[in-house]
Amino acid sequence: MDEKQSKKPVMLSGIKPSGELTLGSYLGAIRNWAERANDYDCYYFMADLHAITVRQNPADLRRRTLEQLAQYIACGLDPQKNTLFIQSHVHEHAELGWVLNCYAMFGELSRMTQFKDKAAKNAENINGGLFTYPSLMAADILLYQPDFVPVGEDQKQHVELTRDIANRFNGVYGETFKIPQPFIPKIGARVMSLVDPSKKMSKSEDEDPGRIILMDKPEDILRRFKRAVTDSEAQVRFDPETKPGISNLMTIYAAATGSSFAQIEAEFAGCGYGDFKRKVGEAVVELLRPIREESAKLIRDKAYLESVYRDGAQRASYIARRTLSKVYRKVGFVGL
Ligand code: TYM
Repeated sequence: MDEKQSKKPVMLSGIKPSGELTLGSYLGAIRNWAERANDYDCYYFMADLHAITVRQNPADLRRRTLEQLAQYIACGLDPQKNTLFIQSHVHEHAELGWVLNCYAMFGELSRMTQFKDKAAKNAENINGGLFTYPSLMAADILLYQPDFVPVGEDQKQHVELTRDIANRFNGVYGETFKIPQPFIPKIGARVMSLVDPSKKMSKSEDEDPGRIILMDKPEDILRRFKRAVTDSEAQVRFDPETKPGISNLMTIYAAATGSSFAQIEAEFAGCGYGDFKRKVGEAVVELLRPIREESAKLIRDKAYLESVYRDGAQRASYIARRTLSKVYRKVGFVGL
């Protein structure tokens, strides 16, 4: 084994800088990454190539990519222990993405829920990138031969397609890619909108009262929880089918405090929803406070952020290059 590659299992994941990071991005993904840096070899990136599948304002995309890096670090991803990089800096992603497009079937790409949702929302811009997005995501993953891909529930289908593409490729050319597993948190894998608990809390929509972003001020967080949709039963009880609003708030509270659903039901027995919502809001304020404060500091230090993404790109490229040249050899390209 190469001396630069340790024997630890590998983890990899990414987030599109297409909007502000939300409580959902944090609980569904980043928190799960930050807890594991000591036991895994970790690669986390800003998926800017993916972000342009939906039209972006260039200045906003650039700003959000750097803010996202600052937020990764503020959430506890130490750049010394995790390889943090910007996807477009490692050109092997786009190159392997092309190759894998040739091993991803039209039918399977057409069945992807995210494609169907985004196509419905952006009827005027159903572009080729949106359709072939999962092949690029498969490339992001397979380049680093990870054991686990920590994502929220909504990305599980893409990781499963990645496994299918990898198996198909391995079947034709022999063992090339390690088959990765999705790694989904038990609590927080699907944080829902506070105003419409049938929809996931999403980062892409501007000014959405149903979402909490990592940089929200405490008073805004408390106000949003105060207005969160509940039901008319006036009982704090976990039942996502009939009580989606309260169950979502319980999930958030459980993730923020570590309490079980049974403990939460006991804690708030006989309590009104007003008190419960205030307590959930306060727990989220305390959960996010250090992240917001640290991100605000880091974002001012452009030189530091640049040193992190340069170093990350170098480390990521080293691994990505090796996998890509193996793939090129296997498919029959003439080496240079
Ligand atoms: P993205 O950018 O939509 O979301 C980033 C991560 O956050 C999780 N997440 C949520 N989890 C719980 N509740 C929510 N409301 C919520 N909203 C978002 C997502 O599941 C995801 O883990 N295609 C990916 C980005 C990507 C990627 C990759 C991920 C590109 N290449 C390679 C893993 C590996 C995406 O759009 O995630």
